Amino acid sequence: MERRTSTLALLCVVWSAVAAIKVDIPKDQYEFARGDNITLPCTFQSALSSPALAVVTWSDEANVIITYYHPNGVTDIKPEYQGRVSVDANVNGGTGKADLKLSSITMADNKKYECQVQIPRDNVGKDADTAALTVLVAPSKPICKIEGTASYGQNISLICYSEEGSPPPTYKWNSYDAQNNPRVLPPKTTAKEGTLSLYNITKETSGFYICISENKIRSASCNLTVTVLPPTMMNIGSTAAIIGAAIVAVILLIVIIYCCCCRKKNDDKENYAMAPVADEESVQNGEKSKHDDSSVNKAANPRDDYEERSERNYDRQSDYDDRRSDYDDRRSDYNDRRKDYDDRRSDYDDRRSDYNDRRKDYDDRRSDYDDRRSDYNDRRSDYDDRRSDYDDRRSKPGDRNERYDDERRYNDRRGPRSDDRDRP
Ligand SMILES: *[C@@H]1O[C@H](CO)[C@@H](O)[C@H](O)[C@H]1NC(C)=O
Ligand SMILES: *[C@@H]1O[C@H](CO)[C@@H](O)[C@H](O)[C@H]1NC(C)=O
Ligand SMILES: *[C@@H]1O[C@H](CO)[C@@H](O)[C@H](O)[C@H]1NC(C)=O
Repeated sequence: MERRTSTLALLCVVWSAVAAIKVDIPKDQYEFARGDNITLPCTFQSALSSPALAVVTWSDEANVIITYYHPNGVTDIKPEYQGRVSVDANVNGGTGKADLKLSSITMADNKKYECQVQIPRDNVGKDADTAALTVLVAPSKPICKIEGTASYGQNISLICYSEEGSPPPTYKWNSYDAQNNPRVLPPKTTAKEGTLSLYNITKETSGFYICISENKIRSASCNLTVTVLPPTMMNIGSTAAIIGAAIVAVILLIVIIYCCCCRKKNDDKENYAMAPVADEESVQNGEKSKHDDSSVNKAANPRDDYEERSERNYDRQSDYDDRRSDYDDRRSDYNDRRKDYDDRRSDYDDRRSDYNDRRKDYDDRRSDYDDRRSDYNDRRSDYDDRRSDYDDRRSKPGDRNERYDDERRYNDRRGPRSDDRDRP
């Protein structure tokens, strides 16, 4: 009741005033760097010197971001903006303010904002104004590279690109010679969107190329070193590679041949090594014969010589026999292993036949099952026959009548008996 009277009183006050509101955002566009905490200003003039009620609404192109209610100071905030938005309002006085405060701005905040102030009884005039927020991002360090072959007479492109930057950065190329003196770019040069094209390049094209990527708030640069080589030099480069490969191949060949030779030589040496052994043997034999004292002169006795030789032959023979028995041993060893393998093979064959047996068993059982199945089908068809038989009987009403008649006859026969029962 009390509130109603106060509202009425307020309305009387409002009514008496001249109605004309004016809301204003001083600039059409605001620019801030990404991550900044910003304030978008909004001022208003009301015909009411001290409005008792006021509603401030800030919205983007689609939705209301925040609503502020004067005088109780209540705010309603859109969930996405919770915790990073507020209204700095001052409604008292002829000129009020209703600034929007937004913290840690991102690229997503890059849009238009509207400030609206509603005061009861002051609805004629301009109650809203808009401004665009441009979130700026410093250009990232540009990525620079050379496209094409840097050799005399060729055309090459120097590429420069910043991944980030808002507004999009502009690119500028500066060139320095090998002594780091600034120079004008060759006349047949085009620079467009960060790409510098150089035509019919020469030795003089070599040097340092600096790309500057720049936007409103900052700039970043890269430093590219271009070394132009004569085509013959480029060819020499590839030729050197081929020659190098050839040299390596030749060295390899030499090494291989050398190894083969060494091996052969070693074989020969082994052959040589056997000879002294034979000599030693003969010397020992000689000593032996000397100890035996069987003869004074070896050469003088051909018989001894013969015996000696036959003895040596015998030695060789026994040597041969040893090797032969060794070979026989290895052979029998091989036969053993072969037998072992045959055993395992027969074992495998046994298991295989076993498996075949089981398979046959399974096939038998399967055919048995098929028999039983056909049996079942027979019985089923039998059942179907009987069923169709029954259906036939059912469908013939005359039959039923017959049966009914039968029942009648039965009841007739029963009749006298029930009469009997009726009797006392
Ligand atoms: C922005 O405000 C947040 C608190 O809302 C604070 O933590 C941050 O340091 C501020 N950033 C700048 C750049 O002032
Ligand atoms: C390239 O430059 C050389 C001299 O540096 C000139 O002789 C030649 O004609 C030029 N070629 C073209 C296609 O411009
Ligand atoms: C570019 O780099 C070279 C060496 O890599 C250096 O001598 C030169 O001063 C650099 N130029 C600029 C402008 O940084």
